[in-house]
Order: sequence, then C-alpha cells, then structure tokens
Amino acid sequence: MSVVLAEEVVFSCPEIEPSFELMAKNLASQGYSLHLNGLNPNLLDSLYEYIQTMPADKFKRAGIGREDNLILNESVRTDQVCWINGESEAGQDWLNWTASLQRYLNRNLFLGLFSFESHFAHYSTGDFYKTHKDAFKGEANRILSIVVYLNPDWKHTDGGELVLYQDQTQVEILRVVPNFGTVVAFLSEDFPHEVLPATRDRYSIAGWFRVNSSAGDKVDPPR
Ligand code: OGA
Ligand code: MN
Repeated sequence: MSVVLAEEVVFSCPEIEPSFELMAKNLASQGYSLHLNGLNPNLLDSLYEYIQTMPADKFKRAGIGREDNLILNESVRTDQVCWINGESEAGQDWLNWTASLQRYLNRNLFLGLFSFESHFAHYSTGDFYKTHKDAFKGEANRILSIVVYLNPDWKHTDGGELVLYQDQTQVEILRVVPNFGTVVAFLSEDFPHEVLPATRDRYSIAGWFRVNSSAGDKVDPPR
C-alpha cells in the first residue's frame, strides 16, 4: 500500500483546486480575489522554468487592445508580451488549468465564460502600464482578468505593484506585490488598475476570460 500525501491528492485533480472555491466566493462578494499561493507548485515551477528559457526576441512590444487590433502607445504601457498558444508544455498546462477554472466558475457563478486568451509579460526596470480597464461596459467581451506572478524573492522595495482602484471614485482598493505564485483575479469591467514601475525585471502572465459576443457575420472571438 502506498501512502499519498494529502496535498498530492488535492493537486492531482485539477477540477477541485482549493483556490477555485475561494476565488468564486470572493468574486461573487467583492469582484476580485487575491491568492498568495494560487497555482499548484508543479505548474508554477514549469511556467517559471519555461519563461527563463524563452529568448528575449519572443517578447514583442505590447499594444493597447486585442491581439488582432493593436495600437502601440508608449505613454500608456512599455512592457513586452508573448501570447500563449500552447506550443510549449508549460503553456499547454497553463491553458488546461485556466480551462478547468473556467468550467468551475461557469458552474458556480454562471458567468458564461466562453474563451480565454493570455500572454507572458516582461516589464524591464522602469516599465509601467498606466491606469486602464481591461474591458468597457457595453462592449461585453472581457469578463474576468487573471494575473499570475513569476518573480522569486520579490521585495517590497522592488516596486512593480499592481494597484486596483474602485471605479468612479478611484479609491485604491488593492495593492498586489508581484511575488512568485501570487494570483489575482478581478472583474474586467469593474476595476481600473495600473502597474507601477519596478527596480528589477518583472514577469507575469495576464489572461482574460471572454464571453461569446458573436453577432451577425462578425465572428468574435477570432478563431
Ligand atoms: C494587463 C495588466 C497587470 C500585471 O496586462 O492588462 O493589467 O500586474 N497586467 O501584470
Ligand atoms: Mn490590465
């Protein structure tokens, strides 16, 4: 008979990750959810290992808007991104995890999440992303934003926090230190947010769950 550690039992079944339940509760009650250890350690380590092997030229200057409709605007954001399409094993594992999160949230919150897009992001020293929203009311596309941080030993003095503001009032409601393994999710239409400049390289994955807003001959999201 083999002895299985409790943690392995939990993490071997992606459908019942403990963080999913807490995330659903927090999203329902306050619209955002912060997890200091939000990803299972195997997935986190493989994403971290992968991002370290990625050549710098895989990262491209980020734009404003969607992948197919980019506007470069250096006064708003200066980071570099690489879209995740599942070509790497780590990327595919990440997409499997977000797919199971999507199923869980759809079953428990009835969000009607339909598709998911995400990218690795690299902020060099001094890079920033000024206050913005990931979606606009009425456009009904991006519903839920999720960000994962891949920076071991981040110090408070390193900067680079993600700051979430209350809509309308601009009152600060959450400051996220981009430390390794931290996961934050928030309703895309509800929270303006910004990335403050850091004193060292800062790596994250940002992703968005979308609803299917196809209308007429416009197929959205693009396949
Ligand atoms: C974004 C974003 C936050 C972060 O890419 O839209 O807000 O902390 N990223 O990297
Ligand atoms: Mn954003």
